[in-house]
Amino acid sequence: MAPVIAHVIAASRPGGPGVLHRIDVDLPAPGPGEVLVRHTAIGVNFIDTYFRTGLYDWPVERDLVLGAEAAGVVEATGSGVEGFSPGQRVAYTLPHGAYASHRLVPAAALVALPDTVSDEVAAASMLKGLTAYYLLHHSCRVQAGDQVLFHAGAGGVGLIAGQWLAHKGVTAWATAGGPEKCALARAHGYGEAIDYRTEDFVA
Ligand SMILES: NC(=O)c1ccc[n+]([C@@H]2O[C@H](COP(=O)([O-])OP(=O)(O)OC[C@H]3O[C@@H](n4cnc5c(N)ncnc54)[C@H](OP(=O)(O)O)[C@@H]3O)[C@@H](O)[C@H]2O)c1
Repeated sequence: MAPVIAHVIAASRPGGPGVLHRIDVDLPAPGPGEVLVRHTAIGVNFIDTYFRTGLYDWPVERDLVLGAEAAGVVEATGSGVEGFSPGQRVAYTLPHGAYASHRLVPAAALVALPDTVSDEVAAASMLKGLTAYYLLHHSCRVQAGDQVLFHAGAGGVGLIAGQWLAHKGVTAWATAGGPEKCALARAHGYGEAIDYRTEDFVA
C-alpha cells in the first residue's frame, strides 16, 4: 500500500478557533483489527468546542485532533478484519480525531452505511443519534403510550429524539427557548413544545 499522508486539523492548546491548525501526518498501514478510512464527511459537534476551549480536560499530551464522528470509504484493512472491504461506505463515532482526511479506525467502531443514508447525514448524526438511542432504549425504555418530557427538544439530540419518540407512539413534550425553537421541536415529532422562557413547564 502506498504511504498515506493524513491532513488533520488540530488544536495545540485550549483556546478560540484560532488555535486550530493543519498538520500532515504519515499514517502507517492498518494494524491488526484496524481499517484505513478516507473521510468524505465529518461531524462538527458542540462537544468539540468544549474540548477546544478547555472547558473539558485536555485529553492528550500534545496536539488534540478534534471531532467525534465521521463517515467515509474503506481504503484498506488490517489483519483479522472481517466484514469490511475496500470501497465500502462506513461511519463511526469515537471520542476524538475525526477532523482528518484519513484515519485508522478500529473495525469494532465502524458501521456499514446503507445506500439510504448519505455520508453527510451519517457523519452529522452518529453521536447525537446514538445518544438519543441510549436515552430512549437504555436510560429509560420508552414504549408506546408513555409520556415523556424532553429538555432542549430543539437541540441536535432533541430533534432526533422527537422523531424517534413519535415513531414509537410515545406522547412527547419538548422544552425549548423561544417560539421558533418550539415550532422546530413540534415539526420534529413533539406533540407539544413549551417555551420555558415564558411558561413554567413544571406547572
Ligand atoms: N450532541 C451529542 O452528540 C451529545 C452526546 C452526548 C451528550 N450530549 C448532551 O446532550 C445535551 C444536548 O446536546 P445537543 O447536542 O442537543 O446540544 P445543542 O444542539 O447545542 O442544544 C443544546 C440546547 O440546550 C439548550 N440550553 C439550555 N440551557 C443552555 C445553556 N446554559 N447553554 C447552552 N444550551 C442551553 C439550548 O436550547 P434552548 O435555547 O431551547 O434552551 C440549546 O439549543 C447536552 O447536555 C450535551 O452535552 C450531547
